Amino acid sequence: MKKLWWLCCAWMWGTEALCAAETVPENLIRIGTERTELILRSDDDRRLRQAYFGPRLANESDLAYLSKARGGAEAYVTHGMEDYFEPAIRVLHADGNPSLLLTYKEVAQERNDLVQTTRIVLQDERYPFEVRLFYKAYLRENVIVMWTEIEHGEKKPVTLYNYASSMLHFGREGYWLTGFSGDWAHEVNMAEQKLTFGKKVIDTKLGARANLHVSPFFLLGLDGAACEKTGDVLVGTLGWTGNFRFTFEVDNANDLRLIAGINPSGSEYRLPRGEVFRTPDFIFTYSTEGTGAASRDLHNWARKYRIKDGMGDRMTLLNNWEATYFDFDQAKLERIIADAAELGVDMFLLDDGWFGNKYPRSNDRAGLGDWQETRAKLPEGIGALTAAAQKEGVKFGLWIEPEMVNPKSELYEKHKDWVIHLPNREEYLYRNQMVLDLSNPAVQDFVFGVVDGLLTRYPEIAYFKWDCNSPITNIYSPYLGADKQSNLYVDYVRGLYRVLDRVAAKYPTLPMMLCSGGGGRTDYEGLRYFTEFWASDNTDPVERIFIQWGYSYLFPAKATAAHVTSWGKQSLKFRTDVAMMGKLGFDIRVDELSEPEREFARAAVANYNRLKPVILNGDLYRLVSPYSGEHSAVMYADKGREHAIVFAFNRNSRFSAPIRNVRLDGLEPQRIYTVREINRMPGARSDWGDDGQRFSGDYLMKVGLPLFSGAHLTSRVVEVVATGIDRNGLCSE
Ligand code: GLA
Repeated sequence: MKKLWWLCCAWMWGTEALCAAETVPENLIRIGTERTELILRSDDDRRLRQAYFGPRLANESDLAYLSKARGGAEAYVTHGMEDYFEPAIRVLHADGNPSLLLTYKEVAQERNDLVQTTRIVLQDERYPFEVRLFYKAYLRENVIVMWTEIEHGEKKPVTLYNYASSMLHFGREGYWLTGFSGDWAHEVNMAEQKLTFGKKVIDTKLGARANLHVSPFFLLGLDGAACEKTGDVLVGTLGWTGNFRFTFEVDNANDLRLIAGINPSGSEYRLPRGEVFRTPDFIFTYSTEGTGAASRDLHNWARKYRIKDGMGDRMTLLNNWEATYFDFDQAKLERIIADAAELGVDMFLLDDGWFGNKYPRSNDRAGLGDWQETRAKLPEGIGALTAAAQKEGVKFGLWIEPEMVNPKSELYEKHKDWVIHLPNREEYLYRNQMVLDLSNPAVQDFVFGVVDGLLTRYPEIAYFKWDCNSPITNIYSPYLGADKQSNLYVDYVRGLYRVLDRVAAKYPTLPMMLCSGGGGRTDYEGLRYFTEFWASDNTDPVERIFIQWGYSYLFPAKATAAHVTSWGKQSLKFRTDVAMMGKLGFDIRVDELSEPEREFARAAVANYNRLKPVILNGDLYRLVSPYSGEHSAVMYADKGREHAIVFAFNRNSRFSAPIRNVRLDGLEPQRIYTVREINRMPGARSDWGDDGQRFSGDYLMKVGLPLFSGAHLTSRVVEVVATGIDRNGLCSE
């Protein structure tokens, strides 16, 4: 028997016991959080098999049964031996042998009271080939991150055909998969299906704007469809800003294997001796209480461990994209900067169209790659704008798209060798542009130099919106040799991370938005470098209700940028209420607002600033799904259950359609809360009066509030405060 001394096992038994020794049978490896575990077993044939995966087992003595059990699926299935379903890894050795047989060599585990890390070494006996499996279990957040390292000592390069980050096996009654698909301005549409015999693959082959048609995450309901408050569900995602693939294979026995990793299609990787191939993180949480709890766990983990400045504040902003598109000059921008100050937001964000001289960026057909201010538009440069922003007391942010180039640019004329393109074929352009070859270190220097050069010249730049509007087209790298072309999709992403590492090292606190023609890049590796992502170019609030709902399964509100724009003709209130559910910004013509609208907008910004701790750092409760009808509601509650905000929306309900109360969640049943409507247009009355009304948490969660109505395209925001708590002037005693 092997003994692992846990620092604290109190959570295992729900007692106050301090420390206890855990005795795990020698052949078992116990990987897990406070609530979930994966148990692996090394057998007499030295193969590593999955012995258990699911909610954490409560009784250590039961482990003996798992220890003695036989059979089961291998933890990381190889190709060419006796398993005939989809492998986790498939390689071709330098001598032409296509087989791999991995046997267990050793395990090392470390644990503190936050994280348990496991490293397992598997080796082939015939070839100097090693796979190391890694598992990082975040104990309280109930999130497990898995990845592998692949390395060999063969004389010539080995070709990796499949190289998964993780493999998990399930033996359940049924499997219900929800994927998130879409297009430009139509992101994360949720669709659920029951998996039956065979393979279901969710993948992308787009390279740079990888998530244009599908997002790198899913919900997997076990034994039943994924529900919000009940049932077993696994929510998984790949941290990789490039091609990904999830394979769900149901076999003849109705067992499911889930394989997650880089999409190996078009990406056979030539791995030289001694180079470590580190696969991206597969990140998942397993909930026994439905998708709501799963999302809250993921959000807690992401804020604490993954998103750049995940625990920090976020700036509200005024962006000029939809207000001006490419049509602006210094005077116009100075007026918008003054508008930003009037609205009370923290920052003005200058979007596309400020650069290029030989080929000015007056539309999306020219200038990309030439990162100098267009003299005709901005004769005094960015410096005059940062000065104007400083004068108005707002920060200044800037749009860049440094990985891309328009053929109509000086960069392209000078450095065609830096552009991904096929040497002997006509170029295929996407949004009139092409992708720079980030596998090339000289290109990495250039891209880093775009950011570094701007920040050196204008240290007042406080924020970047980093865009990426094209997938990789014409895939061929002038830099990689003929024998390594299929490494390009992978090396591109690694090159991007090298650049972002340099940016992070030199400008560690710089906030940045990850944008990709809307939500074309939405993954948890990218978010190590970015404080938020642009969820969609579609800012019509009706669409945004669905889009933000979809993203909320994976990402906390503080990472999901949401702007009030004129896309959609709804009232300013409706548009603002939707955007306030995320990281709030504006992209409107402030000069076109009426005086009551300005007053409303200023008050909404002030409300948002006051409510940020709840919206950005609180727990999310999805109360009523927009997929279930014409009404929807979302709620945020702070960790102390003292302060909550509920957003309720009516889209286009039919005449006389039944209207139900919204039952709240996440409150203390015994506490008394004051409910007050906020974000009201000047002069609008509230059903709960100006001072609000009192209810018990029990009532609010069982009976609920009449927040919905039949009025089309209307909304309500209510603030819920426990009595005795003073929320900046709202004393509810
Ligand atoms: C992309 C972005 C938009 C905007 C434009 C500018 O489409 O998603 O928000 O920045 O580029 O060209």
